[in-house]
Amino acid sequence: SQKKRKGSIARRFRENRASFRFAAARFRPTLGAMRRILVTSALPYINGHIHLGYLVEAIQTDIWVRFQKLRGHDVRYFCADDTHGTATMLRAKSEGRTEAELIAAVSADHQQDLAGFGISFDHFSNTDSDASREVCHDIWKALRAADMIVEKDVEQLFDTQEGIFLADRFVRGTCPNCKTPDQPGDNCSKCDATYTPADLIDPVSVVSGTRPEVRNAVHLLVNIEKLHAFLDEWTQSGTLPSESANYLKNFFLTEPLRDWDVSRPAPYFGFEIPDSPGNYWYVWFDAPIGYIGSTSEWCAANGQSLDDWWKNDHAEIHHFIGKDIVYFHTLF
Ligand code: MF3
Ligand code: ZN
Repeated sequence: SQKKRKGSIARRFRENRASFRFAAARFRPTLGAMRRILVTSALPYINGHIHLGYLVEAIQTDIWVRFQKLRGHDVRYFCADDTHGTATMLRAKSEGRTEAELIAAVSADHQQDLAGFGISFDHFSNTDSDASREVCHDIWKALRAADMIVEKDVEQLFDTQEGIFLADRFVRGTCPNCKTPDQPGDNCSKCDATYTPADLIDPVSVVSGTRPEVRNAVHLLVNIEKLHAFLDEWTQSGTLPSESANYLKNFFLTEPLRDWDVSRPAPYFGFEIPDSPGNYWYVWFDAPIGYIGSTSEWCAANGQSLDDWWKNDHAEIHHFIGKDIVYFHTLF
């Protein structure tokens, strides 16, 4: 019986080998069907560790990328660290190092963790790169040329001790509606009221513990209402998963789109806006542009052309993201 089993294992091996070859031949695309596919995972923030939620997304993306590569398609998987914003600036300051040092150290940790889970990027960059800055400049120039940028006076709370404008989450205070103390800057956890931080009773800066004051500053905004018809059509064209398409149709594209505020006054850690000195692009403006920046670095190192990947009607672009950032990717 020992002999029989051996014989049957050998036979099954021969058969499997044949059927594996058969399967591989079936999946290998014919020349005309070879697809060019660019894939991204959302960019993890530099001011935290890689967590399980992010790994779920990265592992799903990696599985899909490996599958498409096995099929013989022309696939590349790009990612980067999302580095800009007030939080990075404050953390670097409190740790007594530059933002660049912080980014280098945390990015190395991120890449080690992701490699430990077998995620295989073609390139992993960060949004503070020269390549990413260059793409930001190009996109900004195009927005200006299309007359899409408007200027507005925006009220924000200012921490006079730290000398910085405070994002909503850096302010806490008493809810103007139900009077519960110590509530976040944008909505009340007790009564669910939404408001702006300037409406809070007794606001306190989370950064310094002092009482911030209301200050005005000029911000630059993108007039996205000009794109409403295009967004209606494109988001409902079958390109998006139906869940995302329906969400956008029902919660986002129903009313006129409010101008999108894409600038922050100094001091801010980010790229300075070339034609508006003292103002910086808001982190959510340049974060998704980091996908292109990462591709650009890989192209430079591999003798490829960026336009063949990002401005090619025959190239596919697939973003793996969580549903909470569908809105920002729609703007992108
Ligand atoms: N850092 C963001 C987050 O964690 C994701 C950025 S994705 C990109 O929610 F579009 F900006 F690249
Ligand atoms: Zn309340």
